[in-house]
Amino acid sequence: MNAPTPGASRLSLADFVGAARELGQRHPEPADCVEAIAPLMLRLLDQARTFLEPQHLRSDPQGYTRNLIYAAPDDSLSLYALVWLPGQWTAVHDHGSWGVVGVLEGVLEERSFVRLSADRGADAGIQLARGGVILLGRGAVTSFVPNPDHIHVTGVAADRPRAVSLHLYGRTMSHFNIYDVPAGTRRRIDVAHNES
Ligand SMILES: [Fe+2]
Repeated sequence: MNAPTPGASRLSLADFVGAARELGQRHPEPADCVEAIAPLMLRLLDQARTFLEPQHLRSDPQGYTRNLIYAAPDDSLSLYALVWLPGQWTAVHDHGSWGVVGVLEGVLEERSFVRLSADRGADAGIQLARGGVILLGRGAVTSFVPNPDHIHVTGVAADRPRAVSLHLYGRTMSHFNIYDVPAGTRRRIDVAHNES
């Protein structure tokens, strides 16, 4: 299918997924890919009420939840609704993939880290410096690319209400890297998600 034009009005979930898959194939360079997909995420946010089901909004007092909306059979793409209760945060992590994130509800906070050590692929001897913070309100879209990895912590402050965000990645996000900042190490972890 042809990718919808960024400014056009209505965009269904099927349109979005089809266009994102096509753009992912057309743009092997991740920076080109997220540049092309970000405007579509902005439009998808407007249509979220047409495809989000109650199971996509499941939450858990033990930690933020990852509710799968779509996973491509060829592992080239996945879309999740993440639900963040007040005070829930990720570990310091990177995804080893490009990603496009849109905020549906609340304020999502992202704190970035900058890798100072030269070997970008090393799992030890990692020196990280704290970077800036970004507050993403409802309707905001952000994106990231790998290599150099986008290292960050995401979550919702304890004094803010629940946040819900859509996360599109360039693969099934069944594992990612988490960092032990004082030890200067990172390791891959497998992560679960809720199926529809
Ligand atoms: Fe992340």
